[in-house]
Amino acid sequence: METTKNKFVLNIKRTHYCGQLNKTHTGQKVVLMGWVDTRRDHGSLVFIDLRDREGLVQVVLDPKKAATAVAKDLRGEFVLALEGFVKLRPEGMKNSKLKSGEIEVEALSCEILNEASTPPFQIDDENVNEMLRLKYRYLDLRSPRLQNHLIVRHRVAQLVRRFLSDSGFLEVETPILYKSTPEGARDYLVPSRVNPGHFYALPQSPQTLKQLLMISGYDRYFQLARCFRDEDLRADRQPEFSQIDIEMSFIDVEDIIEVNEKMLKYIWKEIKGVEVEKIPRMSFQEAMDRFGSDKPDIRFGMEIKDLAKTLGSQTGFKVFDDVLARGGIVRGIPVPKGGIYSRGQFDKLTDIAKKAGAKGLVWIKSEADGSYTSAASKFFTPEKLKEIFSATGATSGDCCLIVADDYDIACSALNSLRLHLGRELNLIDHSKDYFLWVIDFPLLEYSPDEKRWVARHHPFTSPKDESFDDLMNNNEKAYGKILAKAYDLVCNGYELGGGSIRIYRNEIQQAMFRLLGLTEEDTKVKFGYFLEALKYGTPPHGGIAWGMDRLIMLLCETDAIRDVIAFPKTAKATDLMSEAPTAVNRDQLVEVGIRLTPQAEKFIEEGKKNLS
Ligand code: AMO
Repeated sequence: METTKNKFVLNIKRTHYCGQLNKTHTGQKVVLMGWVDTRRDHGSLVFIDLRDREGLVQVVLDPKKAATAVAKDLRGEFVLALEGFVKLRPEGMKNSKLKSGEIEVEALSCEILNEASTPPFQIDDENVNEMLRLKYRYLDLRSPRLQNHLIVRHRVAQLVRRFLSDSGFLEVETPILYKSTPEGARDYLVPSRVNPGHFYALPQSPQTLKQLLMISGYDRYFQLARCFRDEDLRADRQPEFSQIDIEMSFIDVEDIIEVNEKMLKYIWKEIKGVEVEKIPRMSFQEAMDRFGSDKPDIRFGMEIKDLAKTLGSQTGFKVFDDVLARGGIVRGIPVPKGGIYSRGQFDKLTDIAKKAGAKGLVWIKSEADGSYTSAASKFFTPEKLKEIFSATGATSGDCCLIVADDYDIACSALNSLRLHLGRELNLIDHSKDYFLWVIDFPLLEYSPDEKRWVARHHPFTSPKDESFDDLMNNNEKAYGKILAKAYDLVCNGYELGGGSIRIYRNEIQQAMFRLLGLTEEDTKVKFGYFLEALKYGTPPHGGIAWGMDRLIMLLCETDAIRDVIAFPKTAKATDLMSEAPTAVNRDQLVEVGIRLTPQAEKFIEEGKKNLS
């Protein structure tokens, strides 16, 4: 190996990855290349942990020997090439935490391939501020944790390709520069230079394109598809993310569930070595009634109970009576051992309910002397208070939490409380993953803000057969009750995937667009090409898309989507490393026919961009 200042000639070849060495290699001469993880100078000998993407190995260097004299100059993150013998570590010196912990490499020669500035944080220190780690993402990606996530991600991509290809699916790529594909978020727009004033929209999903492929006769399609959605970000949402996107022709709901359940079992077996049992199903209505969520976390109980029957029509408590009279609900959850909660703790829980939209929270707790107390106790006899308490499923020593409100709000508040307490009280069973198919979703929901009906999944989803007439006859009274041929795959309270059987007749798709408030002109501009295609022999078809990033999150047991994406964005949709998005050169804007508004100009001038 020769190194000069600007020229580097590597004349030895790596024989092994550091992390792959173990006692079966004892006695072998190996060549390793990697980064100095840690260095311990014992005077006569220098010990380093050398790291590469497969892990660490301990190397012993003698600084007195010419070939390993660089040992005294080594610093963290220096890049080395070294040759040495694998030796068993003496008894008592083994490190059971390290895959290669039974051996070490005695260096024969060592070269510094490149030096490194002192990194802003220790690579495997998990207490470092995430903003700093995102700024130096390439360093954070050296950590064993993130390396493992990306390796799992790679393996899952290979498994999915193998499984779907073996099951007769064809992988087809669809365009990124395209037209709006509505999935409920805002579009990311890209201006066209050659067509000034015209924009592409990055796909929110390949929805219409995969349906067009069915019309073209491709029958079984899949793609590991990049999707782009300009929406509020959360721990499990990124502005650009990946889907395992699937579409099939000549099938019904059962066929889709069957093939996807098989794929899920295959992935869990290969990655986690776990046999997944048949996945239970639950209707949307049941999920909402029992858990207050369409993606219920069924790893623990604390289910919601309806209290209307127990309360009767006139309770004397105005809050309950008014809500019940206007068609709302009064429901509650039990809180195991909540009998000891203080006012302060109930105030905190009330805040959680309020954040979810509820006006307040009623609690009842059982006291050590067998009595029941509640801020609302003056409205009820002691017997009634006990009856309400028991109707929530609470028993002695517990408390119960009750929300009275419109259905959606009460469900949402009870769901928030349940999830919060499930975590806080350690009620979650972490010993396995809990899967669920949620089925029988409503096709439509009314948006009070927009004053119109909107599609719950997307406008291409088919209603159940018995509801076609209501749709075609504009029977608005029935809209809220129409069920969709839609299904979601839920795991541990995460929506892992979702899909539907599609509308495949032109006139029904047109009726659907009309119902959603699109004028004929709108429909023509936005979906004319799609409606036209439906006329040319469209097979019955349907599909699903899995959130690939969420899948990896669950397999890697992390609750941050950023942990499983090589270069993720912050909650403000920025990249801290490159500082994207950035203002661009004025000439570039002129080229694409764009002039900034005064507000945008001011924003740039004041350097207001909020990266985090
Ligand atoms: P949907 O919008 O339900 O359906 O998306 C499917 C799955 O994609 C994942 N997902 C996301 N993951 C990370 N960040 C996001 N911002 C994000 N948004 C969605 C979720 C979700 O379940 N075209 C339809 C599918 C179909 O009907 O076949 C669609 O995109 O895990």
